[in-house]
Amino acid sequence: MSHFATIVRVPGDPILGLMDAYRADSNPAKLDLGVGVYKDAQGLTPIPRAVKLAEQGLLQSETTKSYIGGHGDALFCARLAQLVLGVDNPLLQERAAASQTPGGTGALRLAADFIGRCLPNRGIWLSDPTWPIHESIFAAAGLRVGHYPYVGADNQLQVETMLEALNQVPKGDVVLLHACCHNPTGFDLTPRDWKRVLEVVKARELLPLLDFAYQGFGDGLEQDAFAVRLFAAELPELLITSSCSKNFGLYRERTGALLVCAESADKLQDVRSQLAFIARNLWSTPPAHGAAVVASILDNAELKRLWMDELEAMRQRVVSLRLGLVQALQPYGLAERFAHIAQQRGMFSYTGLSPAQVQQLRDKYSVYMVGSGRANMAGLAAQRLDQLARAIARVCI
Ligand SMILES: Cc1ncc(COP(=O)(O)O)c(C=O)c1O
Repeated sequence: MSHFATIVRVPGDPILGLMDAYRADSNPAKLDLGVGVYKDAQGLTPIPRAVKLAEQGLLQSETTKSYIGGHGDALFCARLAQLVLGVDNPLLQERAAASQTPGGTGALRLAADFIGRCLPNRGIWLSDPTWPIHESIFAAAGLRVGHYPYVGADNQLQVETMLEALNQVPKGDVVLLHACCHNPTGFDLTPRDWKRVLEVVKARELLPLLDFAYQGFGDGLEQDAFAVRLFAAELPELLITSSCSKNFGLYRERTGALLVCAESADKLQDVRSQLAFIARNLWSTPPAHGAAVVASILDNAELKRLWMDELEAMRQRVVSLRLGLVQALQPYGLAERFAHIAQQRGMFSYTGLSPAQVQQLRDKYSVYMVGSGRANMAGLAAQRLDQLARAIARVCI
């Protein structure tokens, strides 16, 4: 008898398939705008100097590899919570705390299992479109998954339609919102939009889950936290998933946290006891290294300054590439059509290119982006902007 005879193969992640096709392309002028990692002008995903320095310190100071606790590294949790909610946020005294997780993905899975176990029969509402892994994580946790409109077929943010849809969400359900740098579209809500979303959240008594995977990549470390801090100040209860993958360049070290804001110190401890229980069954205790690096940086004024400068340089590089691409499209009369690329924030851009145009870009010009027309702007080099603009013009005109 074969135990595995009935197992069928599931398709691989389409973005990873795109990576394979890119690697196999022998055209030396190929362009990779697919996978969501930041690249510098040389096309490398760098390790920030602050991270390297923190690692050198850890090599000397680390005395044990024994387990860290269920909520992870306490210093990391305290400093990350300050980064997310603001250094002097009074909530941090007793009503809010972070639990360390393996990356932002781990935080989302912990949140999903917490909702499934502790808030039964609550659905979760995701933006349409959203990061595809959101869909599978919440489905895997057995939650009812619904969608609210976010960007329409005209490639525009649909705030009114979004608010109308959220107004129909069953009372008490969970709504996932991208706190900044929306993946995959790059379209973010304005502060005014956020205030309107908050009103609906209050009226429908929804529980927001803010996914905060790109703090510092949009408009700046503090500016990007606008929605998170507004919701934390105005609502008694809130879930926030934070990732250190992009802003600390720690992708493979799997570093992130789930932050909980609760109505009282006592309730916070009840929730945290459940999180520790769930995490015990998922990964037992989180990996130590990335969190120790982040804690060393955030707890040391000099390293923190260096890291903030490095992050700001990454952010500004992406912003200038966005402006540069729109300028490079000017000679083709396409600057207005693609003006949204300069307004979008974060690594990704919904370009508005159709799947057929994306295919043509790939087949004829070795430009690789996701079929939805999502381009990783952080994957570009400034000297390749003209080449990309020419290719886009050829498939558009
Ligand atoms: C919207 C969003 N949330 C969460 C994550 C999770 O990041 P990680 O698990 O790599 O920390 C990502 C990563 O691409 C993302 O785009």
